[in-house]
Amino acid sequence: MTTGPTLSGSTAPGSTAPQPALLIDLATGLWRSQTLTAAIEIGVFATLATGPATAPELADRLGIGERPAEILLTACTALGLLELHDGRYRNGAVADHYLVPGRPDYFGDYVRMVAEYTTPGWLRATEAVRADAPSKPVPDPDRNMFEEGNRPQFFWEGLRAFSTFTARRMAEALDLSGVRRILDVGGGAGHTMIELCRQHPRLSGTVLDLPHVCNLARDRIEAAGMSDRIGTTSADFFTDPLPTGHDTVLLSMIMHDWSEEQNRRILASCMDVLPSGGTVMISELLVADDKSGPVDAALMSMNMLVGTWGRNYTAAEYAGWLRDVGCAQVRTVHFDAPGANGVVIGVRA
Ligand SMILES: C[S@@+](CC[C@H](N)C(=O)[O-])C[C@H]1O[C@@H](n2cnc3c(N)ncnc32)[C@H](O)[C@@H]1O
Repeated sequence: MTTGPTLSGSTAPGSTAPQPALLIDLATGLWRSQTLTAAIEIGVFATLATGPATAPELADRLGIGERPAEILLTACTALGLLELHDGRYRNGAVADHYLVPGRPDYFGDYVRMVAEYTTPGWLRATEAVRADAPSKPVPDPDRNMFEEGNRPQFFWEGLRAFSTFTARRMAEALDLSGVRRILDVGGGAGHTMIELCRQHPRLSGTVLDLPHVCNLARDRIEAAGMSDRIGTTSADFFTDPLPTGHDTVLLSMIMHDWSEEQNRRILASCMDVLPSGGTVMISELLVADDKSGPVDAALMSMNMLVGTWGRNYTAAEYAGWLRDVGCAQVRTVHFDAPGANGVVIGVRA
């Protein structure tokens, strides 16, 4: 008797049907992300940073039962986050570098931000597809989703490692030797500018964002000892003129939040304050021009569908808009980072 594919992934003997493993992986993707979230929230990686431990020892230190400890530790080991030697668990290389609180590249806030802030919309993704509208719950959908009260403050803290790491890769990929002053439009809590200035000692500039975000940025910039090189400007990039005095405008993870019409307005405002020869840099997870992927950009675009009115665009789309607002030369530099896989650069004629 012929039966359909089984849960173990096998098909009937002699069948030429493809294996269903891809479907199982996709259907259970949340199991992986929530295992990681639970381990962070329980404090597994923080505790193991103080030394290897057996499952019962860890259960005791974490204040949880031995049964859930063993299950969670086994799952974390299977997923490559922990290593097991002679019955004792320890952090694997990725967990040791990125998941121990207080370490410079700590990603735990990002993981928690995804779990608490973006996942509720994802659980209703079908609604977003049907309605062509965000499915993420927002306190006041009639106001800008980034305004105070509409997005939790921990969103910007969650972006810290994500944006810093992306800026680091961007700084490595781009030749910024001719750049002096950057206007970081929608610069968030300043993490991108701080990292770019760290990498390039002759750089300075301004973080422009909504007033409550600028307050966060000022704190972060001061804590990084960069207040003499990075200023802040509170403004709404849809309604306020942008400040002059910069040779480069950076739009990092901005355009994916908005519609084409809104993005064209933002770009026109940027061009108003750039001198001839100045550059606009659009840093994003770029969708391939033929819209076949890649996976990270395609899924970020889904993330925009469930949470915003925007989407991830292609380099060709950005290049067209840049030419329309007056850029003579447009090129794309590709790199590999969590928040961007390329920068589309336009030079003002
Ligand atoms: C996805 S975050 C990107 C932050 C930062 N550029 C980065 O790469 O980490 C989008 C940013 O745009 C800012 N933003 C949204 N609407 C804005 C507006 N109308 N005027 C100024 N900033 C705005 C948000 O407050 C937020 O900091």
